[in-house]
Amino acid sequence: MPNNLHLALNVNGEPTEVAFAPYKTLLEVLREDLNLCGTKHGCELGECGACAVLLDGQPVLSCLVLGVECEGRDVLTVEGLVTDGRLHPLQETFADLGAAQCGYCTPGFLVTAKALLDEHASPTRDQIREALAGCLCRCTGYQQIFEAVEAAIHNPQPIRNPQSTIRNTGEAR
Ligand code: FES
Ligand code: FES
Repeated sequence: MPNNLHLALNVNGEPTEVAFAPYKTLLEVLREDLNLCGTKHGCELGECGACAVLLDGQPVLSCLVLGVECEGRDVLTVEGLVTDGRLHPLQETFADLGAAQCGYCTPGFLVTAKALLDEHASPTRDQIREALAGCLCRCTGYQQIFEAVEAAIHNPQPIRNPQSTIRNTGEAR
């Protein structure tokens, strides 16, 4: 059994220290060592997008990033989208417009869409489609997801208690 690595990084805005086996991916460190299970475990091959998180503000597939690469870096997971007890507008619109059905893909879509909206205040449908192209969804047919991202552009203020809609928009499971 290899010796654990000790790492200091920022996770969802909080300085965080974690010890883990050196072979672990960021996805494994988040889920198994930090108990942040909102980020989903999908293909582990870089093909489904379920494991997407933001690393220094940019979307990455956490199944393809080693934990050891994250020393001193900023990681944002779906859990970090809730601010002061309020859902992110994308979480609101995904819930309201049926963009989260089984919800397995939803955390990856949410953080990837957040990165897009952080860079483009008002992206076109083509830009949304392109930004989310690495995320796969078996339930929605994608139309509701694109509409939810567009709706969040026009609904920048979180308005609802998270307990009402968090079930399908990123809750750990
Ligand atoms: S689990 Fe990482 S891309 Fe599928
Ligand atoms: S909502 Fe089920 S896979 Fe996307």
